[in-house]
Amino acid sequence: MLLKKNKQTNRAELKINGVKYHLDIIEGSTGEKALDIRQLRSDTGLITLDPGYKNTGSCCSSITYLDGEKGILNYRGYAIEELAEKCSFVEVAYLLLHGELPNLEQLNRFRHLLRRYALIHEDMIHFFDHFPPNATPMSILSSMVNVLCNYYPEMSDDPLENIDSTAARLISKIRTIAAFSYKKSIGHPLVYPRYDLDYCGNFLNMMFDRPVIPYEVKPEIVATLNKLLILQADHEQNCSTSAVRLVGSAGVNLYAAISAGINALWGPLHGGANQAVIDMLEAIYKDGNDFKKYIEKAKDPDDPFRLSGFGHRVYKTYDPRAKIIKKACDETLAILNISDPLLDIAKQLEEVALNDDYFKKRKLYPNVDFYSGIIYRAIGIPTNMFTVMFALGRLPGWIAQWKEMWEDPETKIGRPRQIYAGPTKRELIPLHER
Ligand code: SDX
Repeated sequence: MLLKKNKQTNRAELKINGVKYHLDIIEGSTGEKALDIRQLRSDTGLITLDPGYKNTGSCCSSITYLDGEKGILNYRGYAIEELAEKCSFVEVAYLLLHGELPNLEQLNRFRHLLRRYALIHEDMIHFFDHFPPNATPMSILSSMVNVLCNYYPEMSDDPLENIDSTAARLISKIRTIAAFSYKKSIGHPLVYPRYDLDYCGNFLNMMFDRPVIPYEVKPEIVATLNKLLILQADHEQNCSTSAVRLVGSAGVNLYAAISAGINALWGPLHGGANQAVIDMLEAIYKDGNDFKKYIEKAKDPDDPFRLSGFGHRVYKTYDPRAKIIKKACDETLAILNISDPLLDIAKQLEEVALNDDYFKKRKLYPNVDFYSGIIYRAIGIPTNMFTVMFALGRLPGWIAQWKEMWEDPETKIGRPRQIYAGPTKRELIPLHER
């Protein structure tokens, strides 16, 4: 992927011990600039150090652009607000994977693959019987996705061979695995996918249909779920996407790389925050709605408590996804005629935090996870599956990023360096003398 050198000053000058070095400045399509340090160690003997990679780009990518200061998020150049309003999740998944929105023929073919690949091997269903009853859904999801490679081993040495059908297979089956694991967890009979239902309608039906009481797939709820999955579909080089790229760069199959991404997303600092938000709101509710007490806890440097769903490594303004989800909260609860006290607490928490100097100074705003759980709760999805829902949404983004990595001729196995700070060389004392 060729990036143009910065027009004005395409080189930076670095002076070390009186010696001048020059580093190229490269510029992306939206004007973002980076120091190209690919020759830094060979030229200067120095490396850079950047814990958490706050200032370090791992790759050039054409998939997602976000501006953390302005609260902008685009997939392949399309604004998230427009995609969430006008497209289906399957359309956006196609956009992320192929770089263009599908025409009707392409969309129907993709839809057909997703519906055709919805089943999992019957042998895999027995695995659910052998997880502990209290097994966490994310541990089941990453295990089952990882084991898929044994049922579909046609991933040849060329990672991109059959990638379109492999991507459709994985996007379809992860949804079935999620719904089946839920049904198993509540002891209900499995509901199999149906060819006549679309991606989100099929998921809702597999989750909530029962032999005794049939589930009505409401178009408004299908629309809400499409919107939530679209908003979670990609987010440039976040922790779990970086895990998919790093594990994938070793040449392992796609299923294993995605399983690594699922495990990274599970963390409460990352995708697990949507579950942590509900746990936090429920604790505040049980504590007599004393949300100011929790605001003070979050501000206390000696208290490990943080406001879940608040703050972001990149967004230093309101997460554009959170704005859309907050609006969808009110709409969905109205459709379902539900009033959830946790939503009122969330709104009060936001109101107080956004006017508090601690949060303002650190530019901490609600992120994608702050309100999404309220909607999942209203739909009937259990709290311990909220991060599974995030994984369903993020999967097309992970696959698109993995595919882009393998299409990039500059891709190498990911292997960061370090600065050693341990003991210098010392003699080994024999055991009997120690
Ligand atoms: C996701 O990267 C992505 O794009 C992720 C994501 C995606 O789509 O893939 O957007 C999804 O993971 C969203 C984030 C979900 N996580 C949470 O909601 C957990 C709560 N948030 C924080 O833990 C935190 O804000 C992070 C982890 C999200 C970001 O942490 P950073 O960038 O490493 O920032 P930091 O820890 O250095 O915090 C800077 C300051 C610190 O205070 P000081 O040391 O300067 O005094 O802000 C404080 C922090 O203590 N702070 C918070 C806070 N978040 C940061 N204080 C209270 N509550 C919080 N939530």
